Amino acid sequence: MPALWTLPDFDAHEGVHFFTDPASGLRAVIALHSTHLGPAAGGTRFWHYADDAQAVTDALRLSRGMSFKNAMAGLPMGGGKGVILAGADRAKSPELLAAFGRAVDSLGGRYVTAEDVGMGEADLVAIGRETRHVSGLPVGEGAAGGDPGPSTATGVFLGVKAAIKRALSRDSADGVHVAIQGVGSVGGGLARLLAGEGARLTIADMDAGRAARLAEELGAAVTGPSAILDVEADIFSPCALGAVLTEASIPALRVKAVAGAANNQLATPVDGDRLHARGILYAPDYVINAGGIINVSLEYLGQGDRDEVEARIRQIPGRLESIWEESAATGETAAAVADRMAMKLIGRG
Ligand code: NAI
Repeated sequence: MPALWTLPDFDAHEGVHFFTDPASGLRAVIALHSTHLGPAAGGTRFWHYADDAQAVTDALRLSRGMSFKNAMAGLPMGGGKGVILAGADRAKSPELLAAFGRAVDSLGGRYVTAEDVGMGEADLVAIGRETRHVSGLPVGEGAAGGDPGPSTATGVFLGVKAAIKRALSRDSADGVHVAIQGVGSVGGGLARLLAGEGARLTIADMDAGRAARLAEELGAAVTGPSAILDVEADIFSPCALGAVLTEASIPALRVKAVAGAANNQLATPVDGDRLHARGILYAPDYVINAGGIINVSLEYLGQGDRDEVEARIRQIPGRLESIWEESAATGETAAAVADRMAMKLIGRG
């Protein structure tokens, strides 16, 4: 592997920490991109990587994304990300989680972890036995915190409605056709909120049973995981994987706007230009999907309750509006405008 600081995704990260615990089999990376605004916050991903370099790349990219996300959400938090390199069997033992908890603790509060792909609330509880620098733990009724998925879904719903307003000049999702890729925690929640407002839905999921059950519940149409990108609709909402907006997929899109939860939706920065050139409105991913981190950060900071979380989530549409306004005024892509705003906030502008 080349030296860390020559990797394309290295962006003057403040620290990249490697942890090994032979007894439990833990191998993990914690990347701290920036602590300019506060402790570096971002979930931990538990994933089986084809090679170790991919895990490092993921940690570098995702931690930078968290710096941008937290800054744009107005949180007093920097950006970081944990990655646990799962074995091929994806086994996750209590010992491994405890060792990861000690790893987080050793950073003395410079990193605060939470859920990400492959890590649920129970895993965070196990980590929380070793460190207090953890969020996304179960909380009581009305308190901030807990599973970030529903909060993310609420923010994405409000963001989709902002996109509907801007791209279609309509004040409600009633009768608007939204194509959703991935109907798990966030995409499923989004689908229910949209259906509740009368939207017409087409959904797709790798888990065909999950898609079929939700379609039955909501009266949605179902299509295949790749066909969803070509569905003629008003809005495309990527809520599964990153890097779905590519040189190949963008020309085939038949929508007026892209607004969804997935992290790193643009495969490359040039794909932001491609969307812009096609006149497709884009909601920068880390702005629209900040609901979950708002929820768990307020839990960690002990600042405010569920009402405060909701109030902050309601600011997401306004942030998108100001990005789109500036994009319209300057001709820059929405993605470029958002990046510039975020860089300034973390003292790198
Ligand atoms: P999840 O794991 O609950 O759901 C993802 C769903 O996508 C699953 O049902 C899976 O079967 C499906 N899927 C995977 N690949 C697919 C494909 N190629 N085509 C169609 N469906 C596919 O994950 P969750 O929590 O709903 O997150 C969704 C996305 O939103 C992820 O990219 C995640 O990083 C991002 N995100 C999630 C947040 C949260 O609070 N959960 C916060 C911010 C971003």
